[in-house]
Amino acid sequence: MKEQIDLTRLPQHVAIIMDGNGRWAQQHGMERYMGHQEGAVSVRKIVEAAGEIGVKYLTLYAFSTENWNRPQTEVDALMALLITTIQRETPDLMSNNVRLHAIGDLSRLPKASKDELDWCIATTAKNTGLNLVLALSYSSRWEITDAVKQIAAKIQNRELNIHQIDEQIVSQHLTTRQLPDPDLLIRTGGEQRISNYLLWQLAYAELYFTPVYWPDFREKHFFEAIIDYQNRERRFGKTGEQIKNTINN
Ligand code: IPE
Ligand code: IPE
Ligand code: MG
Repeated sequence: MKEQIDLTRLPQHVAIIMDGNGRWAQQHGMERYMGHQEGAVSVRKIVEAAGEIGVKYLTLYAFSTENWNRPQTEVDALMALLITTIQRETPDLMSNNVRLHAIGDLSRLPKASKDELDWCIATTAKNTGLNLVLALSYSSRWEITDAVKQIAAKIQNRELNIHQIDEQIVSQHLTTRQLPDPDLLIRTGGEQRISNYLLWQLAYAELYFTPVYWPDFREKHFFEAIIDYQNRERRFGKTGEQIKNTINN
């Protein structure tokens, strides 16, 4: 499978909606939190696979703003899992040269989870391989609303005027300001929706949906998604002819 990937045409940024943990657990007669635990194994495998082929950015939707509305026991289990996963995985992130980042309303995380996350971000800050971005307490509508507030404040104190607002200014006020837009979005677990994820940034991403539950998602599924991506023609509003001409010239 890996041999079929054209390493010169990799997506620079892959975003994933890791869905299906609860249903995976149910299917195996287990509690939902065990699906999340098993999902952490998939995270490790996919981070390794992405780093191995040379993807530069991998953004994982780990917890949405709306996920705060789940039963408190599940929220608590997920926040605790964040801590144990970071503790367990940081040595491997270091040996694989992976740099961790986080996006979302991180002020809502419990202090112990936030501290562990900050520690890992600082520890891996000098790594130069894969940029692994965790979306935590993240939603696009929260992010865009927050950007509007920041821009409005700058206009109010005359740091900006209205005519300066363009797409670049908006992008610079999103939590993803340091990241290129995703080229490929993968959603596991069978649903075909975006669930408030990277709405602005996914404007021209290729979308890939698979029924495989996240705890079952492995390297071969990831590589399959990349091969599928490489068989598509990205036109960005132009005609197919125009795109072929730029490739041939
Ligand atoms: C995704 O799996 C993980 C999180 C949202 C935290 P789910 O927990 O949503 O699993 P399903 O969709 O109920 O199967
Ligand atoms: C999206 O999954 C959020 C994450 C994977 C973290 P959900 O399970 O929360 O999404 P919906 O509710 O099915 O849209
Ligand atoms: Mg779900």
